[in-house]
Amino acid sequence: MSGPLLEIDDLHVDFDTRAGTVKALRGVSLSIAPGETLGIVGESGSGKSVTAQAVMGLIDVPGRISGGEVRWRGQSLVGRSVAKGARDIWGKDITMVFQNPMTSLNPLMTIGDQIAEVVEIHLGLSRKAARARAAELLAAVGIAGAARRLDQYPHEFSGGMRQRVMIAMGIACEPKLLVADEPTTALDVTIQAQILELLAELQEKMGLAIVLITHDLGIVAGLCHRVAVMYAGQIVETGPVDDIFEAPSHPYTQGLIRSTPGLEAAEKRLISIEGMPPGLLHPPSGCAFLPRCPIGDEGCRAPQALHPFGAGTVACRKAGEQAWRDA
Ligand SMILES: Nc1ncnc2c1ncn2[C@@H]1O[C@H](COP(=O)(O)OP(=O)(O)OP(=O)(O)O)[C@@H](O)[C@H]1O
Ligand SMILES: [Mg+2]
Repeated sequence: MSGPLLEIDDLHVDFDTRAGTVKALRGVSLSIAPGETLGIVGESGSGKSVTAQAVMGLIDVPGRISGGEVRWRGQSLVGRSVAKGARDIWGKDITMVFQNPMTSLNPLMTIGDQIAEVVEIHLGLSRKAARARAAELLAAVGIAGAARRLDQYPHEFSGGMRQRVMIAMGIACEPKLLVADEPTTALDVTIQAQILELLAELQEKMGLAIVLITHDLGIVAGLCHRVAVMYAGQIVETGPVDDIFEAPSHPYTQGLIRSTPGLEAAEKRLISIEGMPPGLLHPPSGCAFLPRCPIGDEGCRAPQALHPFGAGTVACRKAGEQAWRDA
């Protein structure tokens, strides 16, 4: 197959709240190719999870898609639901792994039954075949003694093992795209590394495309081919992972890298970007990063469209200028 698997085109998502309309996504465009791993990074509240929810058809009241498109292999997903014939897309072709595996697993059902249920529904396997497949999947995600483990309940599994189970369910039907929203945030560092390694391994073996959402740029470095940086409901920069780390062109990306522990530019000391993102009830029409940007000026009050820059794209008229001098 050629062409992108998933295309997000000028997507707008609003949430109607008592205080007014929160403009959570303000014109997000992205595409994901088969087998590609795309990292989405950005501070809390920048719209990463809402983007994932839009891809999964999970935007629900008080939220709504107020503009733009999400297309799966050319077909629009906006306004569709599992009931309206999209059942073979969500849960089969596109699956999701969430941040907290304890709340996503049913505490009253054995691990084996929960995995088997997925393949029964989507692949129409018999009970017996589904159980065999569940054991295979547990082994594939690195859980030893799978046959015995099938009859255990979620509370008998450690946090890292529960996340492996979620990944097993995510890959059960050999999806083409796995969306992982902060899949390792709840885990300690060693387990985190193992889970990321597992994702990388599955990605390679299955030719799976992955969208990996994280606020941690360090995680992206090891796993992703390409990165999209979000700020205040918009994408401010995209590019191949090496370019983003070696020569970030948007001042916000530069600041983010400078404040990430363990990355080269941040080795000397840990500095965070001063200030806060704007509220999304009344976001500015121009660059949302302007109040925090060391090199922004009056001209940045005009809307900054994402445009090609180097091997990626950037939404900044001063792209490529060094925003911080001490990096
Ligand atoms: N159900 C909701 N009702 C109102 N506002 C919402 C709702 N869900 C999300 N939002 C708003 O949408 C914006 C984007 O939220 P989102 O959850 O996508 O952020 P995020 O980038 O995933 O952050 P985090 O790193 O904290 O997970 C935020 O301003 C948030 O307050
Ligand atoms: Mg989130």
